[in-house]
Amino acid sequence: MSQRTLVLLKPDAVRRGLVGEIIGRIERKAGWSIAAMELRTLDRATLEQHYAEHEGRPFYEPLVEFMASGPSVVMVVEGERVIEGIRALAGPTDPIAAAPGSVRGDFGTIVRENLIHASDSEESAQREMKIFFPSFS
Ligand code: PPS
Repeated sequence: MSQRTLVLLKPDAVRRGLVGEIIGRIERKAGWSIAAMELRTLDRATLEQHYAEHEGRPFYEPLVEFMASGPSVVMVVEGERVIEGIRALAGPTDPIAAAPGSVRGDFGTIVRENLIHASDSEESAQREMKIFFPSFS
């Protein structure tokens, strides 16, 4: 089943020059493709909308601050089972718990700077694509 999902390569991925590496992993998956992509410094209003469900949690403020600290790559990726697939390619939130071979397992150490965000469900993907690419359908 072909799907679309919202992917952010976070400011640490851009700063560390890992964008090509991560996009390369996405592009090499059979049948996946990039439907939209832009280098963009995310403003607070956009991030508050994106992370609304986490407001009030201890990591919320540092997360929003970090996500606004420099440019991110904002993408829509499409293809077969891409929602579940990108989450697997990223690995779990905590990079130390992420298996080698995943993006976070290969390149991350601390939870906040975990390199990549990907929508966690069809419903989140629809909501998040509207936030970052309002004119994209
Ligand atoms: S939950 O409880 O499953 O909803 O949370 P989770 O999906 O693991 O995390 C939600 C987003 O918050 C980020 N996060 C953190 N950032 C900074 N510090 C800490 N301690 C922390 N814990 C979680 C996590 O990376 C998720 O961001 P995205 O952009 O969705 O990856």
